[in-house]
Amino acid sequence: MNSSPSSELPVIIIGSGLAGLTVALKVADHRPVVMLAKRDLSESATAWAQGGIVGVIDEADDVEAHVADTLDAGAGLVVEPVARQIAMESAAAIDWLINQGVPFTSDPTGPKGLHLVQEGGHSHRRIAHAADATGKAIHEVLLDKAQAHPNISLLQGYMAVDLVVRKHLAYERQPGHPRPQAGCYGVYALNLNTGRVEAMAASAVVLATGGAGKVYRYTSNPETATGDGIAMAWRAGCRVANMEFIQFHPTCLYHSQDRTFLITEALRGEGAKLELPDGTRFMPEHDPRAELAPRDIVARAIDFEMKKHGLDYVNLNATHLGEAFLNEHFPNIYARCLALGIDISKRPIPVVPAAHYTCGGVVTDLQGQTDLPHLFAVGECGYTGLHGANRLASNSLLECVVVGQHAAKSIVQTAPTQTAAVLPWDESLVEDADEAVVISHNWDELRLLMWNYVGIVRTNRRLERALHRIELLKDEVQDYYANFKVSRDLLELRNLLECADLIVRSALMRKESRGLHFSRDYPKTWPVSYPTILTPIKRRAGSSQPL
Ligand code: FAD
Ligand code: SIN
Repeated sequence: MNSSPSSELPVIIIGSGLAGLTVALKVADHRPVVMLAKRDLSESATAWAQGGIVGVIDEADDVEAHVADTLDAGAGLVVEPVARQIAMESAAAIDWLINQGVPFTSDPTGPKGLHLVQEGGHSHRRIAHAADATGKAIHEVLLDKAQAHPNISLLQGYMAVDLVVRKHLAYERQPGHPRPQAGCYGVYALNLNTGRVEAMAASAVVLATGGAGKVYRYTSNPETATGDGIAMAWRAGCRVANMEFIQFHPTCLYHSQDRTFLITEALRGEGAKLELPDGTRFMPEHDPRAELAPRDIVARAIDFEMKKHGLDYVNLNATHLGEAFLNEHFPNIYARCLALGIDISKRPIPVVPAAHYTCGGVVTDLQGQTDLPHLFAVGECGYTGLHGANRLASNSLLECVVVGQHAAKSIVQTAPTQTAAVLPWDESLVEDADEAVVISHNWDELRLLMWNYVGIVRTNRRLERALHRIELLKDEVQDYYANFKVSRDLLELRNLLECADLIVRSALMRKESRGLHFSRDYPKTWPVSYPTILTPIKRRAGSSQPL
């Protein structure tokens, strides 16, 4: 199948989650692919996904019902044609995953022989899953396929630092040589084994780097979620949209000694109830859909009850489901809680909201095409308009597959670019870092200030305070970046600060409350609203003045 000449520049895909793997598997029969992952190939939000992936496959369900649920959850900011196209392709996406070998939980009486579950905001059971570890099942199968593909090279421990744009090309420096077109020509990547930054030329680059959940002190996200793709695209001149809409998942385990982890919404889909410590149910007072209201509503209700009663957590009671059912359908959550001394068939689970999903990201079309030619963004780092002001549960994995397949098609249909002479990374003016404590201290400060000042409920004062601190931290980190050799921690902190800045600026621009953005200063929702789209200011090289 490999029809590409060996001298052809590869398509570089940054990220080995569902978005990256989908693009890789679809492109690799036509073009050479190099996939970079900054940590272990298996580390990604994808591998941690629990509840499942939307599939409109039941005869009693239909695409318009899914579109309506997506629009409703998205609180007026979903781009309807995008939601409709993605919903229309959901059945084919599930078929593709089944054909790859994904072992979804079966039900002989279910559509396509699958067991479907329901989650918050859905009017129907339409979520295909592999027990409560859907992401792991999908990821393992697709990663195995990628590893076996002769046209895919997987580079683990390679962290993309920045995108190669035309100012990084040797032609730029040669008098009389025609100026190359604006575009993305490759990636500078830190090889974490050697500590050296390598310049890699590419015919196209795909950002599949996931979200920015680690910008918050408490998050359901893995270590990889530091917003690298969003920050790199922004620095390269791409627009970024809707960054104020950070989704807080309502139910993450609260444990005083252990790291938090997600307690899937599918448990509420099966009837688990949210309660105060005295056993009083509170969700019906907040929304007629009670525990199955969209996530922004449930997370805000929990936040409200915790503040009202001075609680560290609320309870999720699933005891009525019984040990056998819980063990069969939620084996991982059952076992993980049991290991912490919580038998969820006998006592409620203490839960709190935590940062979960970045609804905004790099502006793209349905093909994942960004503002920069040859640069694509797919999955959680991208913004197609599907999620609006609040993502509907289990739409994320679906978006990774559908947009990933479209992006692959677009890449394959475009003639590959000529070899680009990429300038090497310049390390001549930097020295070895001496004060790692500066980095770790700033990491902690940033994550705590985002949690305290830019959380579920916001005010102008807190946002302005946050912005002021972020600007100071950015200056410090930029100084460090300019003078010392780069490390993963430094690069991640630099990217998190960029994302924090985008989140706060977007939040300050929204003078209303909508979806995941709730402001005490502007509690009303406007009748009509628009996405928040930020455009980078182009600066002359070496100057702080805009062009
Ligand atoms: P990821 O899967 O996060 O992959 C990102 C990849 O990029 C990683 O390989 C990482 O190493 C790499 N990377 C990042 N930066 C760099 C860099 N600078 N250089 C090199 N590599 C880099 N969604 C659903 O639809 N259904 C669910 O049931 C569901 N459950 C979830 C449960 C949890 C606990 C979490 C955290 C999320 C869940 N989500 C769910 C959301 C969903 O899992 C993610 O949005 C989706 O998997 C994102 O996929 P992705 O490929 O875009 O990014
Ligand atoms: C969950 O299982 O609750 C997470 C689903 C999602 O994030 O879409």
